[in-house]
Amino acid sequence: MSEKLLEVKDMKTSFFIHVGEVQAVRGVSFTVDKGEAIGIVGESGSGKSVTSMSVMRLLQYPGKIKSGEILFKGEDIVKKSDKEMMSIRGNEIAMIFQDPMTSLNPVYTIGDQIMEAIRRHQGLSKSEARKKAIEMLELVGIPSPEDRIKNYPHEFSGGMRQRAMIAIALSCQPDLLIADEPTTALDVTIQAQILELMKDLKDKINTSIILITHDLGVVADVCSRIVVMYGGLIMEEGTSQEIFYEPKHPYTMGLLKSIPRLDLGEKKRLVPIEGTPPDLIKPPKGCPFASRCPYSMKICMEHRPPYFEVSKGHRSMCWLLHEEAPKVKVDTGVKRGTA
Ligand SMILES: Nc1ncnc2c1ncn2[C@@H]1O[C@H](COP(=O)(O)OP(=O)(O)O)[C@@H](O)[C@H]1O
Ligand SMILES: [Mg+2]
Repeated sequence: MSEKLLEVKDMKTSFFIHVGEVQAVRGVSFTVDKGEAIGIVGESGSGKSVTSMSVMRLLQYPGKIKSGEILFKGEDIVKKSDKEMMSIRGNEIAMIFQDPMTSLNPVYTIGDQIMEAIRRHQGLSKSEARKKAIEMLELVGIPSPEDRIKNYPHEFSGGMRQRAMIAIALSCQPDLLIADEPTTALDVTIQAQILELMKDLKDKINTSIILITHDLGVVADVCSRIVVMYGGLIMEEGTSQEIFYEPKHPYTMGLLKSIPRLDLGEKKRLVPIEGTPPDLIKPPKGCPFASRCPYSMKICMEHRPPYFEVSKGHRSMCWLLHEEAPKVKVDTGVKRGTA
């Protein structure tokens, strides 16, 4: 039996600003098992970062978790004191962001920053921490780590900095690593290397991973399950195979069609989803995707669909799955063996 590490239950998070309440996350539920990597994907503004910041309890004013539970190892994070959260962050849950320069301190060497993280969490002596820091840099694939620990962040390339951030995040051996668009700023080859590294580390250290990205193409390889978010809600959830080859939500299908496709060579096409995401101050009554959906029906505008279970663990919030709905067959262009 797989063991649950994180269980988010009907979490709602809003920002209370002068013009009203921005309902960024409107009730999401998902779980992450021990040692499992899940992907959270969706266009910009879907609520991915707010979801992860809520789990980390890093939301800043005027943001607030309104309701729901975030069970980490069975205990509700929402109820923890700031002090308890400080100890959980870094020790048990670590996070890496898109731009490592915002998290790395430009005036300290990479080595100092890794050693500081190691010493804070593991209480090692300076020389032990140095040895460990070198090991960590080696683990994340930085060549000649004995020399490299003396470098400052600006002496590292973007890809190297992201590797260093991963080394810092993993130096405390967290149970859960949340990576929010960790490769978005990097070029495609480096992206692939960083993702390969994350996959590798997951297997080696058995860390659970939440990989957040707007690019569905990025998650397939690393994540066994994918959660598709839009308008502050989970539109569809399934295994990577199900999401890629048997998508059941028109939004997922739209995302799949918009992935740049290497296998199509010259003819590679990007078909963006037309229209814009909903206003989260006045979210639509029905399905948030209805106004952009090519298959939208009257009911979609009026009532938010429930989750329909496609198969065990595969669910979709779409009226098309209602037994009386017209049958829709869509070619997303993704063929087995190409994703
Ligand atoms: N500090 C804030 N104040 C007001 N609204 C915010 C704030 N941060 C995020 N939001 C809103 O929350 C929604 C979800 O944002 P976010 O989680 O960052 O999206 P994603 O990470 O999927 O691109 C967006 O509509 C965004 O405008
Ligand atoms: Mg984001």
